[in-house]
Amino acid sequence: MLEKTLLIIKPDGVKKKLIGKIISRIEKEGFNILNIKFLKLSIEEAKEFYKIHEGKDFYSSLCEFMASGPIVVILLEGENCQRRLRELVGATDPTKAAKGTIRKEFGSSIQENVVHAANPEENVEREIKFFFPEIVI
Ligand code: CMP
Repeated sequence: MLEKTLLIIKPDGVKKKLIGKIISRIEKEGFNILNIKFLKLSIEEAKEFYKIHEGKDFYSSLCEFMASGPIVVILLEGENCQRRLRELVGATDPTKAAKGTIRKEFGSSIQENVVHAANPEENVEREIKFFFPEIVI
């Protein structure tokens, strides 16, 4: 099924100068890039984006981290790309992520795990609309 999904290179990924490497990996895996934005979230925007995690012990720290520096937001399209991107990104905790995944290679902690991939079990459309309100899904 041809579908869209969202990838975020988090502040740690930008600080570690991984933008080029991650985009190159995405292209090599055959995803089509439809749009890219480079921006910095306010604390309020980070709280809104991650509101599904409100109440969890890591929520405040996560929102502060996500607002701590610029991020790169990438809109992708491809066959079954929602599941394929999650596989490429790997488990949340880099120490538990499979070999060859982006988080295994570059992540430094469960919070500073370099990238976020929209989760098909949550709401991919909401996440895409958050950053690309102009996009028709
Ligand atoms: P992400 O896939 O963006 O979704 C929620 C984020 O919360 C996660 O990646 C991590 O950056 C962060 N996080 C911090 N601690 C935890 C935790 N214990 N479990 C899940 N996510 C965490």
